[in-house]
Amino acid sequence: MPALKFPEPALTDGVVTLRPWRESDLARRFEAFSDPVCLRFSWPLTETPTVDHVRDRFAAQEEARLDGDELPLAIVDAEDRLCGGCSLYDVTPGEARAAVGYWVTAGARGRGVATRTTRLLAGWAFEHLGVERLELVCEPANVASQRVAERCGFVREGVLRSHIPFQGGRRDSMIFSLLPGELLTSTALEVP
Ligand SMILES: CC(C)(COP(=O)(O)OP(=O)(O)OC[C@H]1O[C@@H](n2cnc3c(N)ncnc32)[C@H](O)[C@@H]1OP(=O)(O)O)[C@@H](O)C(=O)NCCC(=O)NCCS
Repeated sequence: MPALKFPEPALTDGVVTLRPWRESDLARRFEAFSDPVCLRFSWPLTETPTVDHVRDRFAAQEEARLDGDELPLAIVDAEDRLCGGCSLYDVTPGEARAAVGYWVTAGARGRGVATRTTRLLAGWAFEHLGVERLELVCEPANVASQRVAERCGFVREGVLRSHIPFQGGRRDSMIFSLLPGELLTSTALEVP
């Protein structure tokens, strides 16, 4: 599949900007991702992540982008401070489907960063990738992530049992989907 091109200009709503990762983000990305909540919900291995894991992930995501499977982006604020990471992944043009994922640095949580990010990525996926179904999966205990999904208009579909290998076992996932026309883009962050 053709490489996924980075959105040009970078996606922004004036508060968060989604830009390509840079080598210079590596140390901060490692430090931020090493927070207990990220490890609890977004780190699939049993061993503690090292800076090499994060470097490998960075390289693997770039390879996936060149293969047309994933669009990985850093989330930054107006001063280019790192607020987290996000991606469109499992991009499947033949089925007009993709998935969205995100994590937010501990200090930036609870201010709508993930909601803003998901709205930007979803809008871009519908407009530029021709996606007809955008998926979001998370652990059933991840209430914050499910609130993000709902605030963006995703519909909860159910539980995928024993969905993925996770931290030495297997994990159920809650699955949500968003179809064209369903994205809630209100600048208010409440669920209507
Ligand atoms: C999930 C995550 C990305 C949310 O980021 P965020 O920028 O804080 O999200 P938002 O501010 O847009 O929305 C968070 C919502 O969850 C709620 N929330 C936050 N922490 C919560 C918690 N521990 N329990 C319940 N709800 C919580 C917020 O109140 C808000 O909901 P509201 O509309 O009812 O106020 C962030 O908590 C995170 O990085 N977690 C670790 C990684 C992760 O879980 N990634 C997602 C994997 S599917």
